[in-house]
Amino acid sequence: MNLNIALLKGDGIGPEIVDSAVRVLEKIGEKFGHTFNFTPYLIGGSAIDATGAPLPEETVKGCLASDSVLLGAVGGPKWDTLPGNCRPEKALLGIRAAMELYTNLRPARLYAALKDDSPLRPDLVEKGFDIMIVRELTGGIYFGDRGYREGKYGEEAYDTEQYSRMEIERIARAAFEAARVRNKRVISIDKANVLETSRLWRKTVHEIAAEYPDVTVTDMLVDNAAMQLVRNPSQFDVIVTSNMFGDILSDEASQITGSIGMLPSASIGATKRGLYEPIHGSAPDIAGQNKANPIATILSAAMMLRYAFALENEALAIENAVDRVLEAGFRTADIAHGGDALGTVEMTDKILENI
Ligand code: IPM
Ligand code: MG
Repeated sequence: MNLNIALLKGDGIGPEIVDSAVRVLEKIGEKFGHTFNFTPYLIGGSAIDATGAPLPEETVKGCLASDSVLLGAVGGPKWDTLPGNCRPEKALLGIRAAMELYTNLRPARLYAALKDDSPLRPDLVEKGFDIMIVRELTGGIYFGDRGYREGKYGEEAYDTEQYSRMEIERIARAAFEAARVRNKRVISIDKANVLETSRLWRKTVHEIAAEYPDVTVTDMLVDNAAMQLVRNPSQFDVIVTSNMFGDILSDEASQITGSIGMLPSASIGATKRGLYEPIHGSAPDIAGQNKANPIATILSAAMMLRYAFALENEALAIENAVDRVLEAGFRTADIAHGGDALGTVEMTDKILENI
């Protein structure tokens, strides 16, 4: 295949980890006979510095014209005091909306080689877990009406949670499809005891469930879900939930795997072309020091091969290489417990050797 990939390196450790993933994709291209053409575009704080805007028009156009997008991370203390709609984070919401990436897939699985990194009790770790969080990504409170106004007690701010039936239907279908090729169990997470949006969510998810008789669906309230994730994570297969609940629960799920530096994600829409990125942030404290763990971004590139291009063997080649490197005991600082650690470049070299 001949594929055009837009690179959004972003801020902090973003450039280093994207460069690692590019090296891995180039190796895959050589080995399996594909050509990847990479075009970088600005996003986040670095785009603010260069152009004044976190998401330049050229970036949006470039992403829409590409076959897929690989993103590093955005944000940093330098831009933290900017007003809400010119912050680097706004660029992430903007590109998700512009590309209509309403489905966010966030797999959280425990690596056998990293079992000791999990903060969970050994008996829970022994049982293992492999969860796919399907987070709604272009609706809910992230995109609802917001602002400031005069209230009963003077100045107040508000954000609005809103969901249409259509938005819930399509994310529910994405979750049921994901469950079909896994263990066929969906847990839908909401706050239906309080929120009207959650009641529409629950009703709609069950209507769509009727189209998938081979998949079971159970509801769980979000507060209980937060507890169940640390109490008994092996009960989860696919989780489907709203934008904000998914944001929070996916960080929790990543932490029980031991390291947020390991987890990839895919954001896809009606087409699976999408945007692929690690779930961690830009880690400004270690930026430019060759210390960042590149694995989440490398695994995001593997997800891109699988979902955007249906290149399953190529995706597996990357995932197996990562497994082998971890099993051989190689670690970056975040998973080394003070022991010997490889730098970003050296960890990438090890993965390349195993492809
Ligand atoms: C994430 C991040 C973003 C989100 C922020 C940076 C806007 O936390 O991708 O999980 O909340 O979606
Ligand atoms: Mg988040």
